[in-house]
Amino acid sequence: MKFSMEFIKVLALPIVVIVFLFCFTRSQCHHPLDPLSPSEINKIRVIIQKSHFSSLSNLTFHFVDLEEPKKEDVLHWMSLHKHKHKHVVSPYRRARVVVRANSETYEVVVDLSTRAIISENVYTGHGYPPITLDDIIQSSRLTLRNHQLQDSILRRGLNISEVSCIPQPAGWFGELKTRRVLNVPCFYRRGTTNFWARPIEGITTLVDVESMKIIKYIDRFRVPLPKAESAIFESSSQGSVTCNDSDTSRIIIKGNEVKWANWDFHVGFNTRAGTIVSTASIFDTTIKKYRRVLYRGHVSETFVPYMDPTFEWYYRTFMDIGEFGFGRSASSLVPLLDCPSNAVYMVGYMADSEGGVVQVPNAICIFERYVGDAAWRHTENGVPGNTKSKGQQEVNLVVRMVATVGNYDYTLDWEFKQSGAIKVGVSLTGVMETKAVKYTNDNQITEDAYGTLVAENTIAVNHDHFLTYYLDVDVDGTDNSFIKSKLITTTVKERKVSPRKSYWKVVKETMKAESEAKTNLGQEPVELLIVNSNKKTKVGNDVSYRLIPSRPAMSLLSDDDYPQRRAAYMKYQLWVTPYNKSERWAGGFYTDRSHGDDGLAIWSLRNRTIKNKDIVFWYTVGLHHVPCQEDFPVMPSIYEGFELRPTNFFQRNPLLKQ
Ligand code: MN
Ligand code: CU
Repeated sequence: MKFSMEFIKVLALPIVVIVFLFCFTRSQCHHPLDPLSPSEINKIRVIIQKSHFSSLSNLTFHFVDLEEPKKEDVLHWMSLHKHKHKHVVSPYRRARVVVRANSETYEVVVDLSTRAIISENVYTGHGYPPITLDDIIQSSRLTLRNHQLQDSILRRGLNISEVSCIPQPAGWFGELKTRRVLNVPCFYRRGTTNFWARPIEGITTLVDVESMKIIKYIDRFRVPLPKAESAIFESSSQGSVTCNDSDTSRIIIKGNEVKWANWDFHVGFNTRAGTIVSTASIFDTTIKKYRRVLYRGHVSETFVPYMDPTFEWYYRTFMDIGEFGFGRSASSLVPLLDCPSNAVYMVGYMADSEGGVVQVPNAICIFERYVGDAAWRHTENGVPGNTKSKGQQEVNLVVRMVATVGNYDYTLDWEFKQSGAIKVGVSLTGVMETKAVKYTNDNQITEDAYGTLVAENTIAVNHDHFLTYYLDVDVDGTDNSFIKSKLITTTVKERKVSPRKSYWKVVKETMKAESEAKTNLGQEPVELLIVNSNKKTKVGNDVSYRLIPSRPAMSLLSDDDYPQRRAAYMKYQLWVTPYNKSERWAGGFYTDRSHGDDGLAIWSLRNRTIKNKDIVFWYTVGLHHVPCQEDFPVMPSIYEGFELRPTNFFQRNPLLKQ
């Protein structure tokens, strides 16, 4: 059978998994968007420590990342590199470093080739750089050592040696002047490792992180501690599968560059975003060339507001990317739990608060996925005596990481399809934040409980999860436009030849400026097109990709609420801005305790023109989480995602034999 022969051919492709770990010189084989290497991180630490910063007190590293080279330089490098030019001049190699010293925030740019600090600036605006792991460890220890807390624990009949205290960002609630502080709720471990389910309610501890002192301690009330038995969870073998080694792997990894099937892209990692996908191009067999699709994509910010306005809970309105970081929260992936047996792994590197190298083994996994779906199929029924099925299996490439931000686990996937689509999504699992209450049955609850009683004495509080993606889509080049292709119901006027009264037709509208582009989805039938209007297909259609959204979800908080002001970009699921190197983090760079005076919603007020420009899409995947009992004590994964899909980009279905 011809059909199965084709499958055999695919399976027989040679096994090629090459991972080059070392290169002799950086320019020889390093992509300009490569994350900072361990030796570069060390070099940065030495440069800063040898500078005048050494004379300042309490020098702490809050952010150490690649200072992105100019986009045009990267693209130039790419084009020379592709054509294997001998003298490829690499764009500058710089790092952007944010340190705290003398209770001030310094922004420093270090040139790695000349080993020099080339710019330095004191940041005087609102908000603070990301909280360090050290801030968290110190605040937790300080709280546990506090005699007032120890008394409170004793009065509750509990043992301090079984208490875990987990510092959390404090948000911003209209204070004119803020300090770097952390709220430190405590939990009880005895009898279970799932301390999240056993909050010690009624106590508020506020730690000033700069002076490492407790500046507020309040013990307002006592409620029963939820039972340990209901919090325990273990894995069961139900539904588990044994994985066979796939020998169809066609992944070629060179440094951080990945080639697979018709795709070519770069995978980076940093403390803030975690996985960063860059310079993704797809091979077009018709013209025998790679064509550009995505310059850079990553999670830009998250917003997780809890819906409990009471004294002990109101501040829990997390912006995890800016306050702490998905990269900082990366879990080492567990083979056969997080990734299948055919996965290839990448190490993640970042700097700690002293500027030293932190290594996350298995930070990212890359694997081919075949789950038994057809990428396309058809049975040719109409031909007499010739009922034949044709088709092709769908084999995709997945780039995955897991960020465990305290209680929650986010599995972040970038899935590349040979059809040219990129599916981007997140699976949420882990443990919910719960609140201890006196209730043991829902029928006892007479006032607003702000959540669901998921076990006796345990309310899982209502909340949202929003992940805003930065997507610098470059469809077949840099100059793109955002077109809304609206489906409009139209009345049939010429009734002589048709008994039909209506149909829908496509009406395209090009968004000229930022204010027109921000969109709330789900209200009208519309296709969201990213168009290269300078290029047409052979038959004259606009070359484009389209964004297929997930279920629409937007923040339901009032505009004047403080967390909403800080995450004002959550008013719309989609924004489009002109590319600007400095605009990457939707909630502003200094997210911890931010006042909402920086970020996407503010930048977009300039209402810049976006027609036929290098444009960036900001798309939010989100869900409202009304907890249910099945989500307790650990919740089954729930997936949300969107797709970037070629739309008149290729001359025809690119999966077919040319
Ligand atoms: Mn672009
Ligand atoms: Cu949730």
